[in-house]
Amino acid sequence: MYNRTRRLRTSEGIRRLVRETKLSVDDFVYPLFIEEGEDIETEIASMPGIKRYSLDRISKELDEVVDLSIPGVLLFGIPSKKDEEGTETWNENGIIQQAIRFIKKHYPTLYVITDVCFCEYTSHGHCGIIHNNDVDNDATLANITKQVVSHAQAGVDMVAPSGMMDGTIQTIREVLDNHGFVNLPIMGYSVKYASAFYGPFRDAADSAPTFGDRRTYQMDPANRKEGLREATFDDQEGADILMVKPALSYLDIIRDLRNNFEKPIACYNVSGEYAMVKAAAEKGWIDGEKVMMESLLSMKRAGADIIITYFAKEAAKILSKER
Ligand code: PBG
Repeated sequence: MYNRTRRLRTSEGIRRLVRETKLSVDDFVYPLFIEEGEDIETEIASMPGIKRYSLDRISKELDEVVDLSIPGVLLFGIPSKKDEEGTETWNENGIIQQAIRFIKKHYPTLYVITDVCFCEYTSHGHCGIIHNNDVDNDATLANITKQVVSHAQAGVDMVAPSGMMDGTIQTIREVLDNHGFVNLPIMGYSVKYASAFYGPFRDAADSAPTFGDRRTYQMDPANRKEGLREATFDDQEGADILMVKPALSYLDIIRDLRNNFEKPIACYNVSGEYAMVKAAAEKGWIDGEKVMMESLLSMKRAGADIIITYFAKEAAKILSKER
């Protein structure tokens, strides 16, 4: 037989030599939930191993992230008070602003990215200002500028707006430039679907909408061409990195972006994807570690340069042992 593909699978040596995709700790960003208050370290029931921390308890988590050489973290704040507009998002002494200053002071090499949104900060749980029972796009943009400037002034390394308002990237780029933050990059949650896979996160961040859902601003999971349109707008508006979210059910979209843009592509391996692996592994129905590594590998193979994942620490440990 002329063609035998099994010839290059006969031993680990040759498999290593022809392996096309390799995961590395350099690919990972680890999300952190930081809650306002003291002495808080609460495990999130639907996300085993992931906790909410108050700043006075977070150091051991950050030590571990740095020891494992994970390059970056993505911060989510859980404020002690919420209101209609989410005004805490631009309080210079808000929980995120404090967290940025704390991390940059004590862990200067750790790359700090903030999620820029309102849903954890609004009493109704939506990602902006409500007018006539829906999120008002342009009124929300005006508040986003305040939030982003306060993150920048606190010393953040990169901002990642996740609210899916039209014109977000352009608005943020302009306000950052006008305030002298010309070198502060933006990672767009460019192609973000209205997904049931965010369920556990909404418990973790206390951000479930109290009425309706997010389908007037997040994307319809049925749409692929629209994803390219979203990414094109973010690209044109000056996003430095384009993200697809969730990851595992949207590998085709990651590949679309990889094939169409030269910018770095990120994907967000979201809470529900994490919870499913953990739950099945707990029941003994799958090998959790192997499924984790295979899932992360598939995201990279699909074209992601950056993988935002709750598995970052566990995967980094496995990768360091493989060396
Ligand atoms: C905030 C935001 C969400 C997630 C990241 N940023 C929730 C949502 O859009 O409802 C989800 C992350 C995850 O599920 O892990 N807008």
